[in-house]
Amino acid sequence: MRRPSLLTDMVSDDWPARQRILASSGILVMGRKSQELIQELEDLQPLIQAARASGVKILDPRTISELLSITAPVPARPDRGEPPITQQVTLPNPNSHSPLGRTLAPSEALELAPAPRPHGLEHYNLADFPMHATDVDSEIEIHFDITGNSVTEGKMSDMRSCFIDRLKRIKSMMISANSLPRRPTPVSEAWRNRQRHSSRDYEVTMVGLATEMRWAKSKNLMFVVEDETAQVRCIVKPPSEASEVHPALDGLMDDDVVGVSGYFLVGEGDPIFFVQDIHLPPLGVHSKSMAGQDRAVSAAFLSDTHVGSMTFLGPQWDKMITWFNSDPLARTIKYFVLSGDGVDGVGIYPGQDRHLSIKDLFQQYSELARLLEALPDWVDVIILPGNHDAVRPAEPQPALDPEVQQDYSDTTFVGNPCDFSLHGVRVLSYHGKSIDDFVATLRSVSYSQPERAMQAMLERRHLAPSWGGKTPLSPEPEDNLVISTVPDIFVTGHVHGHFVGNYKGTTMVHSSTWQNQTDFQRMLGFQPKPCILTVVNLHTFATASIPFA
Ligand SMILES: [Fe+2]
Ligand SMILES: [Fe+2]
Repeated sequence: MRRPSLLTDMVSDDWPARQRILASSGILVMGRKSQELIQELEDLQPLIQAARASGVKILDPRTISELLSITAPVPARPDRGEPPITQQVTLPNPNSHSPLGRTLAPSEALELAPAPRPHGLEHYNLADFPMHATDVDSEIEIHFDITGNSVTEGKMSDMRSCFIDRLKRIKSMMISANSLPRRPTPVSEAWRNRQRHSSRDYEVTMVGLATEMRWAKSKNLMFVVEDETAQVRCIVKPPSEASEVHPALDGLMDDDVVGVSGYFLVGEGDPIFFVQDIHLPPLGVHSKSMAGQDRAVSAAFLSDTHVGSMTFLGPQWDKMITWFNSDPLARTIKYFVLSGDGVDGVGIYPGQDRHLSIKDLFQQYSELARLLEALPDWVDVIILPGNHDAVRPAEPQPALDPEVQQDYSDTTFVGNPCDFSLHGVRVLSYHGKSIDDFVATLRSVSYSQPERAMQAMLERRHLAPSWGGKTPLSPEPEDNLVISTVPDIFVTGHVHGHFVGNYKGTTMVHSSTWQNQTDFQRMLGFQPKPCILTVVNLHTFATASIPFA
């Protein structure tokens, strides 16, 4: 479902090519509605793969939606070479009474692939981690957490308020940072005066939400810009020396707030706005706030432990606990941030049951509590939920249920995302479900480099812009997913990679998982980077990535 809009979908122009690809795979498409559904897909391969695996030769709207439901969780772009990741890959055998799909890959035990080691144990300097965690008291200040603060009733008016609030906040960032060439004009006013703004000498600037992005045959980017007053069709030609992340080459996320400067091409047919410049919100080089010298403790980051899954890496967890109790670096770790998918959950995808070692949800959370209890006393845990957790999936997600929290000690439960400070260091922690949408939409983003999605989030000052994509959103009257304050540390998880680095002054952490490669990931050649603990010192911002795989 798309954000409400007055425009109908435009049919893209590559249908014959798509039809040929499907026909060459022995697949026939029945009817106009099926064609429209297929036109909306970024990549045909997951659909073809699921159809082949399920023995489907004719696609009608029902089979398409069934096949997409088993390929949908993580889409991939065809030009990246990255495989999509999902959990079940076939429809149930029509001749069988089992609801489960047929197995495509053997499920024997996997060899544990070595994780890349950005730093080894010998590569960090203890002088950069100068203080023991026991020397300071805990100091966690929460700036945003939806828990107990969700006010949406899910009405159309809430959705409208949410998008108007987003537009207003990001537009005012652009205006106050002088990042637009002139004061923006409402879309209706620019349209009314389109005859006047029909040459380079009389350019106009508008700010609105981008929708219906597509590339024309000419390789120009087409999209619609919409504000509270009107919508206008836009076209932009990629500048000759544009970098790959220029929106004209990289693409725009649905519902991104963008500024456009240019003029109307008025002639035969409907006038269209010829964009000379696209403006994203401002993002200068951030100057970090550091914890004082007398609070120079560290925070450790991890995500996606998926406790309860058969692929949870128990022996490696024990190895980490031994490390915590023996390594001098571990004595500096005051905080342990777990950014969602702490447990594998129950009923998250069809056929999940056969991949679970703990089939009861409460027992999964009890086991996670037991595993975290083994951390030394000086470590305070902060837990936020992810898409496998037992809270509403719509983001912002509230913290785990109080009943679940009872089993945990020294733990702060927060929502997803959560904006908080540790000794004055501003941390934005987000599970990262929207990385799926960034991978599906932007050409520069792939699963092997989730940090590119994080950069794209910072650049558009929004964690999950697209309504109706892979990320369920809760339409709160205030759009809490706008990144109002650039964080000192930005952390995500969800796609089971690992990264630590700097982007425009922000320390970026893509937290590692504790789940081994799943059968399906293995079949597709997707290699997660499990069991890497990322440690960041809050005074020096030195980082260490400790591998336990
Ligand atoms: Fe996960
Ligand atoms: Fe996740």
